Amino acid sequence: MIKKAIILAGGSGTRLRPLTDVVCKQLLPIYDKPMLHYPLATLMLLGIKDILIITTPKDLIAVKNNLGDGSQLGINLQYKTQDTPKGLPDAFIIGEQFIDNEPVCLILGDNILYWGQLNLLWAECLSVKTGAYIVGTHTKEPERFGIIECDKNNNVISVTEKPEYPQSNIAAIGLYFYDHQVTHFAKQLDPSSRGELEITDLNNIYLRKGELKAKFLSRGTTWLDAGTVNSLMDASNFFKIIEDRQGLKICCLEEVAYNMGYINRSQLIKLAKSFNGSSYGRYLEQRAKK
Ligand code: DAU
Repeated sequence: MIKKAIILAGGSGTRLRPLTDVVCKQLLPIYDKPMLHYPLATLMLLGIKDILIITTPKDLIAVKNNLGDGSQLGINLQYKTQDTPKGLPDAFIIGEQFIDNEPVCLILGDNILYWGQLNLLWAECLSVKTGAYIVGTHTKEPERFGIIECDKNNNVISVTEKPEYPQSNIAAIGLYFYDHQVTHFAKQLDPSSRGELEITDLNNIYLRKGELKAKFLSRGTTWLDAGTVNSLMDASNFFKIIEDRQGLKICCLEEVAYNMGYINRSQLIKLAKSFNGSSYGRYLEQRAKK
């Protein structure tokens, strides 16, 4: 069973300047909470409690100030920095000690998901022993992403990074599950023409060995992009609409920790008090009463 995960939250955030001149992309707000809370909540909901967050040296203090060592949420958070954006697979080289030859999950720090249901599908990914799983979903803009081509039985035929002539409309969403070999393979990669180690090249190593599988989000699950100012705003509006309608927060870390049994009621009440004076704190108080 995969017990460890890495959140890659570095990069330069160029497309969101001047917002990202002030704060890194992953700490920008998506409605009522920082973007980074969404992938972290996803991992917590998957049952993963041992998490390495990789950020830039410049943003480390802000990220650490926000999330600490995770003990308040009943999880274990560690931190490493990436000096320059060398590419996604660099996460496995930076995280080699943390991974310690065990299987590991990678999620991008700007991966925003609204889950319909976390079903058994994920249990299969989490129990990977040999090989890797990539997660895909339908996209209107296949030229912007890593694209997964599958046969009728959902076996992966190809994965291509930002293809000019896409073989399918299925994008890799930035959530991956790898076996213990991942650091070893990441170290074999050469930078691509854009000067980065490519996650698609890493996935192709697994594909050539016949060890790459794909899983797809159900239509009830939404993957949101916050790569431009417009999509950032859209993502905020999306969560505002749902939270307003339901009166329930999405990816609220303290509530997830409580629902998953990582913290008890009195710990939740204590956390609620730490948000004193905010509607977020009042929400946590209410949840503790349920
Ligand atoms: O969003 C999913 C896509 O992410 C996949 O479909 C692609 O296959 C994958 O290569 C990646 O595409 P991008 O090239 O668009 O990723 P981007 O450079 O935008 O980086 C994704 C996130 O990872 C972003 O929040 C910044 C962070 N990052 C990126 C790099 C290259 C790092 O923290 N370190 C890095 O070295």
